[in-house]
Amino acid sequence: MTDSPIKEFEVNSNPEWTIKENHSHSINPFLHGALGPTKFESSFDELEILSGKVPEDLSGVYVRNGPNARFESKGLHHWFDGDGMLHSLTFRNGKAAYRNRWTRTKHFNMESESQKALWPGYAMARPDPEAPQGGGTDFTLKDASNTDVVWHNGALVTTFYQSGVPCRVNPVTLETEGQETFNSQLPSQMSAHNKVDDATGEMMFFDYSMEAPYMTYGVASKEGVLKNFVEIPLPGPRLPHDMAISENYSILMDLPFYWNEAQLKRGQHSLQFHNDVPARFAVIPRHGSAEDIQWFEATPCYIYHVINAYEEGDNLIMDGCRMADPYIQRKPGDTMIDRMLAVGTWEDAKLYRWTFNLKTGETQEEQLDDTNIEFPMMNADKYHGKKHRYAYATIMPDDRPINFSGVYKYDYETGEKQMYHFPEGTCASETPFAPADNALAEDDGYLVCFLSNGITGESEAQVFDARDLTQGPVCRLRIPCRVPVGFHSCWVNGDKAFG
Ligand SMILES: [Fe+2]
Repeated sequence: MTDSPIKEFEVNSNPEWTIKENHSHSINPFLHGALGPTKFESSFDELEILSGKVPEDLSGVYVRNGPNARFESKGLHHWFDGDGMLHSLTFRNGKAAYRNRWTRTKHFNMESESQKALWPGYAMARPDPEAPQGGGTDFTLKDASNTDVVWHNGALVTTFYQSGVPCRVNPVTLETEGQETFNSQLPSQMSAHNKVDDATGEMMFFDYSMEAPYMTYGVASKEGVLKNFVEIPLPGPRLPHDMAISENYSILMDLPFYWNEAQLKRGQHSLQFHNDVPARFAVIPRHGSAEDIQWFEATPCYIYHVINAYEEGDNLIMDGCRMADPYIQRKPGDTMIDRMLAVGTWEDAKLYRWTFNLKTGETQEEQLDDTNIEFPMMNADKYHGKKHRYAYATIMPDDRPINFSGVYKYDYETGEKQMYHFPEGTCASETPFAPADNALAEDDGYLVCFLSNGITGESEAQVFDARDLTQGPVCRLRIPCRVPVGFHSCWVNGDKAFG
């Protein structure tokens, strides 16, 4: 067991990190409690079991990415600004281990040299002319690689929500191997949510920018060779967050949640939901060109995350979490911190299905359930891009921002759902599906997550039997250090991770 501080400061008692402006929050909520960063990189080889037992047929690694600030920000700190840190749970032979490591991105290493923050954050009103070129849609932010993590070409690949250069990380040691540029063939950057087809090993990805081309789409082979790269024609800069793949197609999004164009010309970034503009979806054959794109329209909405897509006859079906109106109304007395916290409120995200008819060009759409859910997952190991029966997600309460308050399962065949709610005061993490060794059914496996208590600072890991979430965790493991709440995660099967 090791527990080695990388830098000697205690974030939660640093008075410089207390917000001094006159508003209702005495401290910055992104630096304290369950969201507050940890200063430690730790490894615990065998976790203590609090209840149940570690399933003998669970072999692999759960890896979760998230922001974890190292230096005092240049201005008001936002959660999204933190340096990417991976937290892993390794399951093998009925035992579980924990590890966390910062990802050594190019910008992490530059700040290590200067020992201070070099880039302005998400909440800053304008770019800092003294900052080096960064990442993001206009290259002004630190590329923190803090958002998603997937398995591709023999390594974990970490990504950044506003686009950046991905990093390759060892799944067992969490050591950064370097940037993933597809042998210098990656033309620019990559958004957070790429998609890996486990059947072919290919990675499909997109990038978006404030400058033309506003969106690009690419395919990298199982061996990390760039095989396709296409400019997607858009009428202006957009803010897409996710994409979808089926066995033969990729789906990219032009959603009506983007900047006020007149203000943008004056350099002001004011997001608006254009509820009179349809949502548009670009369906492109996986290895197709811009001329092959078929556009579909649907009622206005915003989509953070897709569950899956698949083909059925002439139809291309996409399941996801849909927000009817993503704009966060400003209430009287709202402070900057209130506004920043509200960004993490998914008070209107519902399970939804879009059916695109490739023959007629028509779209059918349907809300399937009324529970607020987000960070959706499915059995990606066997069913990514193919017809799936089950979806899993985290439950999002509508009265509090940034809280993963329960786990959720939906059966598309019966319409039944299962839910389990975590104890009050705790916050979980995204729960990818982990197939059981020698699984016999789509839901024969487990859901794995962290559970963080922002008041006591205690953290644990929980494992659910995916066939029955209502019985609660089949195993709870004590993690001897604090695990801050984070963003996206993945499950890497043992045959890949321990290979
Ligand atoms: Fe996301």
